[in-house]
Amino acid sequence: MNNDFLVTRRRAIKLGFGMFAGGVGAVTTSKTIVLNHQIQVLDNPNRKFSISGNFSLKERAAAKGLMYGAAIQYSQLSSDKELANIVKHECRVLVPEWELKWHVGKKPLRPSPYNFDFTRADWMANFAKTHGLLLRGHTLVWHESLPPWFKSTVNRQNAKQFLERHIKTVVKRYAGKIHSWDVVNEAIDTSDHRSDGLRTTPWLKLLGPNYIDLAFRLAAESDPQALLVYNDFGLDYDTPQNEAKRTAVLKLLERLKSQGTPIHALGIQAHLSPNRNFNPKKLRQFLRDVASLELKIMITEMDVKDKKLPLDIVVRDRIIAGLYEDYLAAALDEQAVIAVINWGLSDRYTWLSEFQPRRDQAPVRPLPFDTKMQRKLAWNAIARSFDQAPER
Ligand code: G3I
Repeated sequence: MNNDFLVTRRRAIKLGFGMFAGGVGAVTTSKTIVLNHQIQVLDNPNRKFSISGNFSLKERAAAKGLMYGAAIQYSQLSSDKELANIVKHECRVLVPEWELKWHVGKKPLRPSPYNFDFTRADWMANFAKTHGLLLRGHTLVWHESLPPWFKSTVNRQNAKQFLERHIKTVVKRYAGKIHSWDVVNEAIDTSDHRSDGLRTTPWLKLLGPNYIDLAFRLAAESDPQALLVYNDFGLDYDTPQNEAKRTAVLKLLERLKSQGTPIHALGIQAHLSPNRNFNPKKLRQFLRDVASLELKIMITEMDVKDKKLPLDIVVRDRIIAGLYEDYLAAALDEQAVIAVINWGLSDRYTWLSEFQPRRDQAPVRPLPFDTKMQRKLAWNAIARSFDQAPER
């Protein structure tokens, strides 16, 4: 067994695998050694993530012609002054995490088939305007967060009307105030085995594959200024699934462009995970292929799942920072990339706490600020990525 796999007892304990360091059985030990190996490969104690100057992420991004921002919920932004202050200081772009979806939370945008409740979305738009933030709309057409009344109300005969009314009403209300819209979200799922790679969503079943083109045309008609984005996840790694998805997304974008669909950008969510094969060359080639379609690219929902990382915060933060920096080094090398958006800004509020909790119940640490709103190494990593990015 070469040195790579040799995990010293001391290091195994340090990495928080103390109970395995004693090795309770060959299988456990070998699994631990493999996991430790993966972690060892990811963790470089010599990486310091040093930064110069005292500029915010917003300022460092702007210096290279980029935008930085975050997705935040109304309930967090309207009640947490500390959070609001770092949003104002660090972000150029604000994305309502819930408030422009059809139906999430206690006061949803679409409480009933013929009504809209813009209270919270208006508050978010006003916050953005007041503090000079660009507003990003998420999302007009998605298979998730559909209202409870949707299934029993929307059918093949009226689906086009419902889609048209939703997009026209919502997009026109914020016309001129929205930097970009995620017009269609997560429409590709190659595991559904369709030749076009489309996910069999309610919208596909009701309207057929052209629902995507229709949604973009309605959005363009309603706000000619907004950048219109197709947004998706699972595009980041050198795995068969991600490769298949990149191919299917590229085919969709090519098809839309060839039929004159008013689409302007691809949104890559970049919900990263440490236990995958990150191949910067693969990602870079994909970005080059998207850019060759004369599309811009936005990193739209960046965070790092840390559920399989060691408990040790020093090691965990260093690994997470390394993942941020390595990913952004590849992504920002592509001139068509215009923005980096985190899905949340502080570990105090992240969807991963609930959706991807750690087995040891330790708080997750996916974002640039910790629960005390202090900058973390992930913040340094993003800052360094902007500082080292080529100017747009
Ligand atoms: O808080 C309520 C709880 O009181 C209620 O009992 C429960 C069951 O209805 O719902 C809880 O609210 C949930 C909320 O997360 C808090 O956990 C909502 O139903 C649930 O829809 C919501 O999930 C959001 C999800 O999108 C679906 O809209 C997440 O907050 C949000 O971070 C996530 O964001 C998505 C992007 O929009 C698209 N890309 C992936 C990303 C992460 O999944």
